[in-house]
This record gives sequence, C-alpha cells and structure tokens, in this order.
Amino acid sequence: MELRVNIKDHAYDIILMRGALDEVGKYLDLNRKVLIVTDAGVPEEYAKKVLSQAKDGFVVTVNQGEESKSLDTYKKILEYMVEKSFTRSDCVVAVGGGVCGDLAGFVASGYMRGIDFYNIPTTLLSQLDSSIGGKVAVNLGGVKNIVGAFYQPKRVIIDPNTLKTLDKRQTMAGLCEGIKMAATMNKELFELIEDSKDLEKDLDTIILESLKLKKAVVEEDPTEKGIRKVLNFGHTIGHAIESHESLGGLLHGECVGLGMLPLASSNACKRIKAVLEKYSLPTKIDVKASDLIDYIRRDKKAKGDTVTLVYVNALGTYEFINKDISEIEKIISEGIL
Ligand SMILES: NC(=O)c1ccc[n+]([C@@H]2O[C@H](COP(=O)([O-])OP(=O)(O)OC[C@H]3O[C@@H](n4cnc5c(N)ncnc54)[C@H](O)[C@@H]3O)[C@@H](O)[C@H]2O)c1
Repeated sequence: MELRVNIKDHAYDIILMRGALDEVGKYLDLNRKVLIVTDAGVPEEYAKKVLSQAKDGFVVTVNQGEESKSLDTYKKILEYMVEKSFTRSDCVVAVGGGVCGDLAGFVASGYMRGIDFYNIPTTLLSQLDSSIGGKVAVNLGGVKNIVGAFYQPKRVIIDPNTLKTLDKRQTMAGLCEGIKMAATMNKELFELIEDSKDLEKDLDTIILESLKLKKAVVEEDPTEKGIRKVLNFGHTIGHAIESHESLGGLLHGECVGLGMLPLASSNACKRIKAVLEKYSLPTKIDVKASDLIDYIRRDKKAKGDTVTLVYVNALGTYEFINKDISEIEKIISEGIL
C-alpha cells in the first residue's frame, strides 16, 4: 500500500507493507553514503537490514529514550558525519521510534543545510503518527521539542512486522495517538478501536486510517498555522505531565491519553476513558494541578496567558478553544486528578 503525501515542493510516499524492511533497497536510494540512526532498544536486526542493502553504510546507535533528543546527541552525530565525509548527495535513515525519527530528521535538516532523510518507524506511535508530517526536533532546558524544524522525509517505510518485538506497554502508548486522531476526526476509527476484539489483527487498518487522517491535515497545513493544531489534542496537558519530574516514568503516548480526558465533553470523556482502560492505559495521576501549569506556561503553544486547546464535544469532531492559564488549572483538577 502506498500513500502519497502532497506537500508543496516536498511530496513523498509512505510505503505501508509487511516485510518492506527486508527489501528496503527496492524503495530507498541506498546507493550512496547512508547514515543509519537507531537506538539501543531497537532490535539490532532492523538497522542491519538497512546496512546490508546500503552501498556505504554507517550505523549510529544512541541511548534509548528522550534523553537522546538533545543538542548534545545532535552535535555528536553531525561531527561523525563530518568525520566520515558525508556530502550533500548522501542520506540519513532513521530506524526506530519517534525519538530516532525526530533526532535523525533534525540531523538531516541541519547537515549541509539539508540532505535526504528516510524514516523507517518501528513503534506503533511512530508508524501511525510521528513519521509523517515533517516535524523534527530535540528537547532543551526541560522543554520538549523546543528546538527543531519542519523537514519532510524523502520517503517513509512502515513495516508493521517490526511491531512484533515491541513490548505491550509501548504498543498501547502508541495507540493513544491513534485514539487522539480518531476522537477528533473519525468516529468510525474510534469505534473500531473501542470495539476491537483482536488489536493485533486490526493494527494494519488502524495504522492506515490514522495515516490518512494525519496526511489530510498536514497537506492542508504543513507548518501548523491553523488546522494542524488538531493533532495537539491531549498534548498541551500531556506535555506538561511528561515534563513533570515526578511523572517521568510515563510514556509520551500515556501522557497524551491523560491529556485528552479534561478536554472532552462528559460523554466523549467517558468513552475515551473506557478505551484507555480497555488498553490498560493510565487515566489518573497523582500531582498538583498548579505544578503542571508552570510547564504549560513554558510550552511554546502558550501565547501570553492564553492557550489554544483542542476540545472534543462529540467524538469524531473537534473545536479550538482559548483558555486563560488560570482556568486550565481548574480543568485539569476536574479531569484527571
Ligand atoms: N514528530 C512528530 O510529529 C511527533 C509526533 C508524536 C510524537 N513524537 C515524538 O516521538 C517520541 C516518542 O516516540 P515513541 O513512542 O516511538 O518512543 P521511542 O522512540 O522512545 O521508542 C520507544 C521504545 O521502544 C524501543 N523500540 C523501538 N522500536 C522497537 C521495536 N520494533 N521493538 C522493540 N523495541 C523497540 C525503543 O528503543 C524505545 O526504548 C517523543 O519524543 C515524541 O515527542 C513526535
């Protein structure tokens, strides 16, 4: 299955196919220097498959987790590319989850003012969401994704077979981004996730339908000037939860799931909560709302004291609401504490 993302001057294809990684050289131009960026938690065999099909390949394995989305790691990778004499006609390939994709994409965007970037996402979150749309970034000063760029991949290869090695908690956390898109834009997809009797069997459909939703949004608004903000449903509060030190054990997707609950009508919230519970995702946290507010204030989406939030009144629809930071504290207390 191929999906074309039509972004002006930067159209690219997404190949969604079980087994695609085994013949990745068929889909990507690896007949040059290829820098493969992976992390220590991604099974080595995936990067090796790309390496074995590259003419002149190099693998950089960063530590797993958010800590690798840093300027420090970014610099080390760029230094390595300089040392290996990468040129403008060479390429960078991410093999891993959203951390590898965001980091490697930012590296590709910066090296010689931009070289080809291929993304091979291997987590559910990255397959149905983060690998398309061109947002690449690292974190700084405890603020997520604060330094980055819009940089479109040249091609994205999604091989759901790679999800067989992903642990259940990561899979469920990734599903949250699918729930997010379904809750805001596609009631049928929400119901598919809500009623699924065999998630593994339904995953290909969930990935494809989520990608279609994201594709439509990023085509219309590639640089988040307007409707793309719908993808932030759950993220404003979710990022605050993720940044809060004492909640450091929660995964990005889990935080997004929690962040959705205070921003849905009581009926929509009830159903989102039931879906989160069905997939063993957290629906309550133990923290003071006032502590989260500080993070929201620092979040790049806050303009002055007003924050634009995505709100779901009826499932499959959304609206943007502007709220004063002081009001958000109350919303959080009522929703997830
Ligand atoms: N760019 C975007 O549009 C966008 C959108 C959403 C999220 N994100 C970012 O994505 C990141 C989260 O991504 P993630 O959830 O994929 O986390 P991740 O990249 O940290 O991967 C999760 C864990 O799974 C391991 N892993 C990856 N693939 C595996 C596989 N196939 N088998 C076994 N283990 C595997 C990794 O080593 C890691 O430990 C966050 O930094 C978030 O900010 C970006």
